[in-house]
Amino acid sequence: MATRLARRMDRLGTEGAFEVLARARQLEAEGRHVVHMEIGEPDFATPDNIVEAAVGAMRAGYTHYTPAGGIAQVREAVAAFVARRLGIEVGPAEVVLVPGSKNVLLFLLLACVEPGDEVIYPDPGYPVYASLVDFLHAVGVPIPLREERDFRMDLEELAALVTPRTRLLILNSPQNPTGGVLTREDVEFVARLAVEHDLLVLSDEIYSRILYGGEHVSVLSQPGMRERAILLDGLSKAYAMCGWRLGYGVAPPEIAAAMEKLMINSSSCAAAFTQMAAIEALESPESEAALQRMVARFRSRRDLLVEGLNRMPGVRCRVPQGAFYAFPNVEATGIEERRLAEELLERAGVAVLAGTAFGPGGAGFLRLAYTQAEEDLRLGLERMGNYLVDRVRA
Ligand SMILES: Cc1ncc(COP(=O)(O)O)c(C=O)c1O
Repeated sequence: MATRLARRMDRLGTEGAFEVLARARQLEAEGRHVVHMEIGEPDFATPDNIVEAAVGAMRAGYTHYTPAGGIAQVREAVAAFVARRLGIEVGPAEVVLVPGSKNVLLFLLLACVEPGDEVIYPDPGYPVYASLVDFLHAVGVPIPLREERDFRMDLEELAALVTPRTRLLILNSPQNPTGGVLTREDVEFVARLAVEHDLLVLSDEIYSRILYGGEHVSVLSQPGMRERAILLDGLSKAYAMCGWRLGYGVAPPEIAAAMEKLMINSSSCAAAFTQMAAIEALESPESEAALQRMVARFRSRRDLLVEGLNRMPGVRCRVPQGAFYAFPNVEATGIEERRLAEELLERAGVAVLAGTAFGPGGAGFLRLAYTQAEEDLRLGLERMGNYLVDRVRA
């Protein structure tokens, strides 16, 4: 059969958010109203100065292929930005620009992880980690993130998961889906562990600008880590630029060169004008001010949402310290999380994700993104609250 798929496709997962979004859109097409809390994308417009920079770049002829790893000037700007932010030295040869930071993960796994190698990643966690690890015949080793620890790893438990086959450890702080944030002690511990066992560490810092208190500590800034840590970051979340598709990796030069080779074999390069706009995003005070305004709005939405959730029967929710997700525990409703997510969408018109869309560790939880206007958030809370009052009593 011509349409027969290769067997490896069975090993590839999807993102629950895109599936729920598709069902929500179907309901909307049938005339139903849905409050969207499923997709992790800022609702704000990309700041004008960044849009203008992209338009200017297009007019200036940045409409062609670029070097696979990115335009030299942009790699330099990213290197300078990361160096400034993390307090480390970064050269442009360590930077690779990619059409979406997800590619940093894919390329790192392709470049450095052999079949049978073990990769430790958070559970619950961004589903693409487990999916790609599986796809490449590596062995996924989940490290549980528990509510009672504010969704931070138990460090002793982490150390116990390391074996001679462990090749890579994936960190994500602030975290999707829990909003948990690693402390300086956590990061220091991980760095020591990685050095001791000669591990690579992928640090997914895509939400690092969306932090409501405390400090962002990057594993890249720890001793001995520059030769073994890879940064995954990008413009999607911080500057409301998900659709622009620009991410970057910072990696030891050999790994960065391998990623560049993978770019040659896949996308060729990230869009030229998008790359040029990144300079404006990372360097201009205007984009920084826009980011700060956005974070302030996320913070007040977070407070509104968490407070509302904690008033619902059978629901309790920790206050997330970063990103734009709430991860309430719904066990006490007595309704299994997948079923509850489905009921909320089909019967109450609220699109949320089951915690288990992020791994078995999400059992008993839902994930709600607070990336919509306050009035929508209030409407979503009202619908969800009313539904649960009726359902839990029934
Ligand atoms: C934890 C995490 N990492 C990476 C990404 C990928 O972002 P992008 O490919 O838009 O840069 C996402 C997007 O949702 C995410 O939640």
